[in-house]
Amino acid sequence: LNLGILISGRGSNMENILKSIKSKKIPINPAIVISNKVDAPGLKIAEKLGIKTEIIESRGFEGSREAYDKKIIGSLTKYGVTPKNGLVCLAGFMRIISPQFVKKYKNRIINIHPALLPSFPGLNAQKQALEYGVKYSGCTVHFVDSEMDTGPVILQSVVKIKENDTEESLSKRILKEEHKIYPEVVNLFARKKIKVSGRRTIIG
Ligand code: GRF
Repeated sequence: LNLGILISGRGSNMENILKSIKSKKIPINPAIVISNKVDAPGLKIAEKLGIKTEIIESRGFEGSREAYDKKIIGSLTKYGVTPKNGLVCLAGFMRIISPQFVKKYKNRIINIHPALLPSFPGLNAQKQALEYGVKYSGCTVHFVDSEMDTGPVILQSVVKIKENDTEESLSKRILKEEHKIYPEVVNLFARKKIKVSGRRTIIG
């Protein structure tokens, strides 16, 4: 099984997944990290960890999701991340995936979102949670479909909100949980422990 990780920025989830694969002996080959941004800090981290990287710039492809995703699929295929033998992790990848890409890699693309979906989808989820005034938020790992943050949920982790929380302090505590559940999902997937039944996933 070959893993492709798609990033746009910092890459802390990517780093954490790559390190967990080694330390926890997750049976998956980290084949390629792809960034849609030339200057994503995560690229350097991946290189340091000895993982192949590619930059596939999305600038200019704003209106043509399918054309851009074809380039991504081309690169994934080159590294063995195929619909038969691949897993694609979105880790701070700031683009919506085309229906064609989703269909081709059915139930093989996963994403992490810093809120308890279906609450607070989209950008600035932690800020949305604070502004709404909820007492609990958290993070969600889910399969990706072609809308934003709507696919079947795989794992969630709850974080209690404190009265003096700021966007920064809450994001930090949520990120800690992200770093627990994302590698766990990669491990479950690699060991074929995740089944999808309609909107539900069955684990184990
Ligand atoms: C994380 O908060 C993740 O939940 C969201 O984007 C952020 C990416 O952070 N999708 P990093 O690049 O993994 O550090």
